[in-house]
Amino acid sequence: MPRSNIPTVETTSGAIEVYTPTARAYHWIVVALIAIQAPVGLYMVYRGGTLNIWDATTNNLYSAHKLVGVTILLFVLLRLGYRLTAGAPHPEPTIEPWQKTVSEITHWAIYVLLLVVPILGYIGVSMYPALNIFGAFNLPALTAPDKKLAEAIFGWHAYAAFALIGLVTLHIGAALFHHIIRKDNVLGRMLPAALRKD
Ligand code: HEM
Ligand code: HEM
Repeated sequence: MPRSNIPTVETTSGAIEVYTPTARAYHWIVVALIAIQAPVGLYMVYRGGTLNIWDATTNNLYSAHKLVGVTILLFVLLRLGYRLTAGAPHPEPTIEPWQKTVSEITHWAIYVLLLVVPILGYIGVSMYPALNIFGAFNLPALTAPDKKLAEAIFGWHAYAAFALIGLVTLHIGAALFHHIIRKDNVLGRMLPAALRKD
């Protein structure tokens, strides 16, 4: 049954439900932020940890990573609040039951990691403590200092981030498979009308 808050568009194969402009905006804003965040995280750890270069550039990369990371956390909280209240389109009508199951598991696992990864990062910098951003201000501390535990938490933060990168790679592969090989409307549901196929 179509729901009043979920938009429906006409295609040559019939009417399909699509994501709302708000849901699409949240999706693509978080994609853009993660596309900056993950490489910055890897590069700053390589530059500081592996090359042992602790200059202004490394410190600025850490500051940028903390700032973008907290911004991602805020967007994900807003996005999840919206998702849980406004819902999402029914599955694209042509997909197989197993694809529906796998996509739902993947999407919810991505949501969980989108919370776990930045929360671990934030708890880690609170315990270290390393809360300063560009020498300009401090993030509010979430915990009391505990440097040893902070180091373990950074390890978990890295594992969770790698799991997120792995799932997102699978997710992007699936989106491209639907668009290029299966030629269905799965990707179109997450795109602006002008980029959708009919
Ligand atoms: C979704 C958001 C985030 C992603 C995808 C992400 C990703 C990463 C990645 C890939 C690394 C490198 C891990 C390694 O090579 O060992 C890293 C390290 C780090 N992240 Fe994040 N991060 C996120 C959010 C945050 C937040 C919110 C903070 C703190 C406010 C934070 C603080 C750190 C710190 C301090 C490190 C370095 C840890 C170390 O030196 O061992 N991250 N992050
Ligand atoms: C950091 C990268 C990404 C993250 C974290 C992410 C996360 C998500 C999540 C959580 C959903 C579920 C939406 C919901 O129902 O609430 C979703 C849906 C979707 N994403 Fe992504 N995504 C990313 C990148 C991409 C990219 C690059 C593409 C396209 C190539 C893409 C295409 C889609 C599509 C088509 C859907 C809707 C699937 C459906 O209708 O069943 N995503 N994404």
